[in-house]
Amino acid sequence: KILILDFGSQVTQLIARRVREAKVYCEIHPCDVSDDFVRDFGADGIILSGSHASVYEEETDKAPNVVFELGVPVLGICYGMQTMAQQLGGKVEAGTKREFGFAEVRARGHSELFKDIQDSSNADGHGLLEVWMSHGDKVTELPAGFKVIASNETTPIAAMADESRKFYAVQFHPEVTHTKQGQAMLNRFVLDICKARADWIMGDYITEAVEKIRQQVGDEEVILGLSGGVDSSVAAALIHRAIGDQLTCVFVDHGLLRLNEGKMVMEMFAGRLHAKVIHVDATAQFMGELEGVSDPEAKRKIIGKEFVEVFQVEAKKLENAKWLAQGTIYPDVIESGGAKSKKAVTIKSHHNVGGLPETLGLKLLEPLRDLFKDEVRELGVALGLPHDMVYRHPFPGPGLGVRILGAVKKEYADLLRLADAIFIEELRNTIDEKTGKSWYDLTSQAFAVFLPVKSVGVMGDGRTYDYVVALRAVVTSDFMTAHWAELPYALLGKASNRIINEVRGINRVVYDVSGKPPATIEWE
Ligand code: XMP
Repeated sequence: KILILDFGSQVTQLIARRVREAKVYCEIHPCDVSDDFVRDFGADGIILSGSHASVYEEETDKAPNVVFELGVPVLGICYGMQTMAQQLGGKVEAGTKREFGFAEVRARGHSELFKDIQDSSNADGHGLLEVWMSHGDKVTELPAGFKVIASNETTPIAAMADESRKFYAVQFHPEVTHTKQGQAMLNRFVLDICKARADWIMGDYITEAVEKIRQQVGDEEVILGLSGGVDSSVAAALIHRAIGDQLTCVFVDHGLLRLNEGKMVMEMFAGRLHAKVIHVDATAQFMGELEGVSDPEAKRKIIGKEFVEVFQVEAKKLENAKWLAQGTIYPDVIESGGAKSKKAVTIKSHHNVGGLPETLGLKLLEPLRDLFKDEVRELGVALGLPHDMVYRHPFPGPGLGVRILGAVKKEYADLLRLADAIFIEELRNTIDEKTGKSWYDLTSQAFAVFLPVKSVGVMGDGRTYDYVVALRAVVTSDFMTAHWAELPYALLGKASNRIINEVRGINRVVYDVSGKPPATIEWE
């Protein structure tokens, strides 16, 4: 396994993603862990991440010295390279020019790291690599024992190596996709140089995870808030596999779920898996609390608070429960570890079923803490959950509550559910000829939004005066930025026709063509 020491770069998570893509297990830990921790970790290799800091500032982070004494290969990336250079006796200086974006570097000499890896070659037969740079400082003097293995004009020491100690360092970022051979370089490091085992496979993971849950929990009971979302569903399936009836799932239906969602969750978990599921229909309670409230943040707060209350009432009934299980996944863990900017303004206060307070006095069970989203999906499929459930678009915790603009009414939610289901059905049924994929799979998130304004229409010989629905479909890789999806007109036309014909109360459909930023994905 690989230890990644995090110096606070925005893209450290991507290093872990790439290592896992090589089927090698890895963990990210802060750079200031103790020497003992590093020793006990038993890494086959260590990667030092980038940072936004500068190594020659007084108070900057260094790698624990033991990293360079264990006799295992080390790869420094960006800041990781600079701190490696400085800690081993080289020199780092502030560059006069910042180098940011694409750059071409020339591989030099022979190096294990770049052997047979190149994008092209120059007239002299040297390999050229297209890489992504983002740095101000740079290494200007090599530590003893090192040689230059890549360079360009701006950064003469763009990569360096001490082959005898298996220390490698690159000034660019192999973890981002802009560095075309980045995955190949990281594969080379973890598989060939570190000789880490490529044994990170879901089937084995289930066996191990099941064993671990049994040991942790013993004969105690566990409760879990099931939302119908991917993470809580996969967590429930995994824990159920481990401890069966010691697990009770509480499924709170706030009346703001998608069409048939409640039924599907019950059929899957109570019906097929024979898990204990308490289905709480709290629609009336939520609708009551939301009545007349039109401010988006106020609505979010009410839904979040009600959810916790309803869940707590159920949890207290289960007197023997000692554990609260949550579908926390690795990106959530890293985010709450402080990587999030303290200065960020609140655009929306996110509510998740995971955000339950600790006042319950329960121990936390989080079996998905080590996994990335796509690994959670893979695990879900391996556990026998239906593909459609596991590969569903994300759905916000407050549900349709943030897709009905302004005050929420049950009547609106019912109309919206029908319109949304038609849109999703058309996305699933329309196959793109070029890729052979459905438009549901080609978009990252798609849904309908209810606009509580009326417009005039004509149907048959009559005049209508009904509500408007907006369709939204986006393509994104991280949900931080997004493009509106260029859906085929025919698909939009069919969805619009069907919604207006089949959902009585809606006589107009519009398509949202705003990117994020400046718009957000959800309308509230
Ligand atoms: P925005 O609207 O901020 O959404 O562009 C980004 C992603 O987050 C989802 N979202 C939420 N998810 N609880 C959640 O679990 C929430 O309160 C929440 N609000 C927005 C949204 O659906 C999109 O995928």
